[in-house]
Amino acid sequence: MVRIKLNDQIITIDNNKFTILEYLEQQGIAANFQCRNGVCGTCRCQLISGDIQYIKEPLAFIKEDEVLICIARTQL
Ligand code: FES
Repeated sequence: MVRIKLNDQIITIDNNKFTILEYLEQQGIAANFQCRNGVCGTCRCQLISGDIQYIKEPLAFIKEDEVLICIARTQL
């Protein structure tokens, strides 16, 4: 289970079949994105708790407590 901060809201993700961005879209939760490829950094969110795994190498700059939700899944 992963918790992220998105638009001043704490959101819990307990699904690892999709990227976090895809999961949010399925839930009808709006999130910023552009490249969907780990390059631009537009989708960066603060990771509050939990472990994530990237489905590809993140290329955008992020801080230690941030996650690129377009290429990240929750780690079970
Ligand atoms: S949308 Fe570009 S890094 Fe995620």
